[in-house]
Amino acid sequence: MLLGGKMDVKAFINEQVEMIRRTVGEKGALSALSGGVDSSTCTVLAWKAIGPQLKVIFIDDGLMREGEPEQVKATFAEIGIPVQIVSAQEDFFTALKGQLDPEDKRRAFRQAFYTTLGKIIKTSGVRFLIQGTIAADIIETQGGVKTQHNILEQIGIDPETSFGFKVVEPLKTLFKPEVREVARSLGLPEAIFRRMPFPGPGLAARVLGEVTPERVAVVRRATRIVEEELGPLGPFQAFAVLMADKGTGIEAGQRKFGDIIIIRSVESQDAMTAQPSLPPWEVLQRITEKIIKEIPSVTRVAYELTPKPPATIEFI
Ligand code: XMP
Repeated sequence: MLLGGKMDVKAFINEQVEMIRRTVGEKGALSALSGGVDSSTCTVLAWKAIGPQLKVIFIDDGLMREGEPEQVKATFAEIGIPVQIVSAQEDFFTALKGQLDPEDKRRAFRQAFYTTLGKIIKTSGVRFLIQGTIAADIIETQGGVKTQHNILEQIGIDPETSFGFKVVEPLKTLFKPEVREVARSLGLPEAIFRRMPFPGPGLAARVLGEVTPERVAVVRRATRIVEEELGPLGPFQAFAVLMADKGTGIEAGQRKFGDIIIIRSVESQDAMTAQPSLPPWEVLQRITEKIIKEIPSVTRVAYELTPKPPATIEFI
């Protein structure tokens, strides 16, 4: 389905619910929810198709935003879908330890993600994974922009041989605005269908240099501040990134080397191209003050102005 073309949302929902029912049959399926609009939408489609034969999990990889696992569980409880939180932080941090190269980090994350999923799927006995891959993920991975974590064929993983399950992707022909329309039509709350995109590898995509629990904690706090301040202005995406290097600051009259945070906020339709947002100067100053006050390790805050292309939205 191409952007700009008319989409019959109700017909799309019916077709996909039918497709999931036909494909999964009585074998049961698993959905790994992240709380983003893509995985939430395909979880609700699958729930409509097979009800409690769908097992919904949220893998807590330690790379989520503040309070996210609990929020996602509560939101889905409200719409009647039980979500089990699977704690796997240690596995992810072990996989990411010592990884510095962006593609190596993506590979390490992917490996930890599918190994965790493979184990859960094996013990739960289901044969299918419902996954919220969308058209932009496929196009960008095929085009060589970057290997999105969920495009298995392109990165040489056959989930059936490697992990024993087949992947079902009901949203793979849609772009983000269309997914939001489907989500809205399915009755998902606004907090979900308007949610800013968040990369599969989570905050690991926003920590340059080594991804450690301590460094993730820094970017998590900065992200909360950026989202609180810029979120109400309605950008396509706004977030914080922790640089790999340190910047000089002053503390008690002494030189100190501290963390550097970059704020990125972009306007976009479908994430294929993007323009930097131009928030009021006072808002950026307030974010800077809050970050410096609340995160003592930070000595510098900067705002990023590069459009996509040539930059991508995320830094890795
Ligand atoms: P880039 O950085 O390629 O991002 O301009 C385009 C959009 O995709 C999100 N993104 C990801 N989403 N898995 C995902 O599910 C990933 O590995 C991934 N990497 C980037 C990004 O946040 C933006 O909205």
